[in-house]
Amino acid sequence: MLTNKKIILGVCGGIAAYKAIELLRLLTKAGADVHVIMTRAAQEFVTPLTFQTLSSNPVHTELFNLIAEREIGHISLADQADLFMIVPATANVIGKIAAGIADDMLTTTVMATKAPVLFAPAMNVNMFTNRIYQENEQKLRQLGYLFVDPIRGSLACGWQGEGKLASPESIFEGACAALTAKDLPGRTILITAGPTREEIDPVRYISNHSSGKMGYALARAACRRGANVLLISGPTALTEPDGVRVVNVTSASEMHHEVMAHVGECDVIIKAAAVADYRPLVRNATKIKKKSDSVTIELAKNPDILAELGKIHHRPFLVGFAAETDALAANAEKKLREKNLDMIVANDVSLADAGFNVDTNRALLLFRDGSSSDCGLMSKEQLAGAILDHVAARLKIH
Ligand code: CTP
Repeated sequence: MLTNKKIILGVCGGIAAYKAIELLRLLTKAGADVHVIMTRAAQEFVTPLTFQTLSSNPVHTELFNLIAEREIGHISLADQADLFMIVPATANVIGKIAAGIADDMLTTTVMATKAPVLFAPAMNVNMFTNRIYQENEQKLRQLGYLFVDPIRGSLACGWQGEGKLASPESIFEGACAALTAKDLPGRTILITAGPTREEIDPVRYISNHSSGKMGYALARAACRRGANVLLISGPTALTEPDGVRVVNVTSASEMHHEVMAHVGECDVIIKAAAVADYRPLVRNATKIKKKSDSVTIELAKNPDILAELGKIHHRPFLVGFAAETDALAANAEKKLREKNLDMIVANDVSLADAGFNVDTNRALLLFRDGSSSDCGLMSKEQLAGAILDHVAARLKIH
């Protein structure tokens, strides 16, 4: 995602400075070339050596360092950046940048950059709610500067409240969003993810191996591209993506209810969920006791949510998934036609590197007009990007 992106990471003096180290690791792991600038105060909390070791680049601390200035000075650093991040951003540095003050390496380089600038503020709750700070933040927002908002929690100063640095994962997500072209602006996309669970009794259920990873990757990717995302999720162990509305459901009939309740507001529906086709005809109110050597559970068919969506007259752009173990293309083609879809993502779930509960996938994309695209082996993140490239392109002509 961030391969070959040049990111400047400005670190200010605050106890949250140590979390910038974790962020740096996430950025470099994703392929970014990170150049760190530390303020003098930041060096009281963490050492430049840590950032230098993890970024494999020299750390900039002094504005008037003649050797560094000759090799990669603050202006060329500012020019080459794809993204400028300030983490943690103190009230002091935000105030200085809002006022146009450039009196150290960090503020001077920010002033000289044309790259998007993303702040992740961290400070005491009273500083955060102070009107001077709030006005500075508003001014910067209006000028197009980006923010990853702090969260509520216990602050290092002993207070409780807003002002705690957002998690490194949320800030990383903010960086990805800042570097993603907004080709789905204002589009409402409903995504279903994960398995459904059909209860047999209070302690047992029927389900499948879906982890939800594909649907969650789609939700994150759509959000980065500017869409309003509604994620209707079956039970998973995944963290809710930032900036996405999440509705948690358990059974197929709950998923059915939620999807139908929101269909009117959607431009696109992507059904990545592995919906259980059948549910026990009767759910026992109490735990079924072990008596006979064998039991028979009668199953009733669940509603086919996707097929029902396909029958709606003015329906959203519909993307289905086909989980197959044989005759991949033929079975997927049949589902595309029978469920009246615009596009179907076919994957062979019998392969070790595709389908359920792994981080990679191999997908064949089939379209209503008869065309197809073989995506080969890629991460679920990459596949989410490839699916949305097709959705964005086809939405224009839908
Ligand atoms: N789907 C759905 N509601 C169901 C079953 C499936 O909306 N009750 C959707 C899935 O979310 C997926 C697509 O239909 O997008 C195909 O699901 P899949 O399990 O591959 O196929 P089925 O239609 O269930 O057919 P089969 O199990 O016979 O392969």
